[in-house]
Amino acid sequence: MPSESTASPSVLMLIAGAKGAIGTTVALAAVQLRKDPAPVLSGLTTAQRFADLGDPAHIAVAGWDKLQTPIAEALRRHGVLPESLWQEHAPFLSQIEIRSAPPEAALLSDQVEAIQGDMRHFLARWPSAQPVLVNLLPAAWDIAQLHRLETLDEMLKVSAPLPDLAYVLAAVLSDIPVVNFTPNTVEFPVVCREARRRGVPLAGRDGKTGQTYLKVVLASALKARSLYVDGWYSLNILGNADGRNLMDPDRACGKLANKTQLLDEILGYKVGEAYGESSHKVHIDYYPPRGDAKEAWDVIDFKGIFGLPMSLRLNLQGRDSILAAPMAIDLARWAAALKKAGIGGPIPELGFYFKKAVGDDAPLTFQEQLAALDRLEQKIRGERK
Ligand SMILES: NC(=O)c1ccc[n+]([C@@H]2O[C@H](COP(=O)([O-])OP(=O)(O)OC[C@H]3O[C@@H](n4cnc5c(N)ncnc54)[C@H](O)[C@@H]3O)[C@@H](O)[C@H]2O)c1
Repeated sequence: MPSESTASPSVLMLIAGAKGAIGTTVALAAVQLRKDPAPVLSGLTTAQRFADLGDPAHIAVAGWDKLQTPIAEALRRHGVLPESLWQEHAPFLSQIEIRSAPPEAALLSDQVEAIQGDMRHFLARWPSAQPVLVNLLPAAWDIAQLHRLETLDEMLKVSAPLPDLAYVLAAVLSDIPVVNFTPNTVEFPVVCREARRRGVPLAGRDGKTGQTYLKVVLASALKARSLYVDGWYSLNILGNADGRNLMDPDRACGKLANKTQLLDEILGYKVGEAYGESSHKVHIDYYPPRGDAKEAWDVIDFKGIFGLPMSLRLNLQGRDSILAAPMAIDLARWAAALKKAGIGGPIPELGFYFKKAVGDDAPLTFQEQLAALDRLEQKIRGERK
């Protein structure tokens, strides 16, 4: 009979968008880790890393959402997990504290202040845990104005900005590391400067969960064999709130750019150069019957010697939030370990987890991304400068 651990948590995940599909899956995963860790622990990439951080099964979750719905009700609506998997945990889920999001129309400085107040409250509740902000808000428009701002004061005076920015700034200004799992740009020059100055790790952006993860693996493998990629057609169908949201072209453009750019970067040439236009095509379609059980197809046309054509088909039948939730936990543990080791600013070495890693010289191929993680872990252990 599994016994519940009573030890205090090592990491406190403060989740913006905590009642979304991924947020509620993380919440259930955290409860499961406490009760009987094996089904979740076996799906973490960091279970064997960061012994100094404490037990990977001891994670606390809190956060914010716009919805007033109880977590169990949100879990039911998302339909990611069958009720049989979470019903017995419902009383524990209801103890997870999710605070109301600040009004999005308010000045950024007011939103930051409100969120910082909530953060102080959460820190008082779990004084020994390392807090990490995990951004799981919906995909948003890119706001060009924010890139041009030069000072923190100018930024704080913006009204009704990107909601993500309020959480990210509140975290950075409270010395709390940030994981940006969304496709939304938050690493504006002002934010990066503050993060570097204060030694706050900034990890992001856009979690690389399914199709794009396999694209990096396959593209790296084709490159390693000097096989020439002539075209790559990628189609996704998904029926969750993220999929519905991504039907808005302005919200989808960041995600599509993150999914598209990395192929040419890995290969070192423009796919489709012979045709005078890109032959790397990425489509996302909202398809309600599938809910969170997304499906992706890839057709990869490549050439061998004498230019003779070959082709490869990939069909992924995944589950968006089941793939994403353990990565959010892993990233929170990386961010906590980095903060404890005094490593701050944008962390490009975490490119393994993201479609568009922040910072300079992010590793591109799968092999480089794995090697970068090992080097980063050595740096955390103080074995490398
Ligand atoms: N699932 C994946 O595989 C995957 C991969 C990469 C990136 N992402 C990104 O992760 C993010 C989260 O995905 P999801 O499926 O959980 O989305 P979701 O739409 O289910 O959840 C978003 C949550 O944010 C809440 N919210 C909206 N505005 C808010 C605010 N101002 N403050 C607090 N909460 C607010 C919503 O009420 C909702 O509960 C999305 O940006 C998505 O594009 C997901």
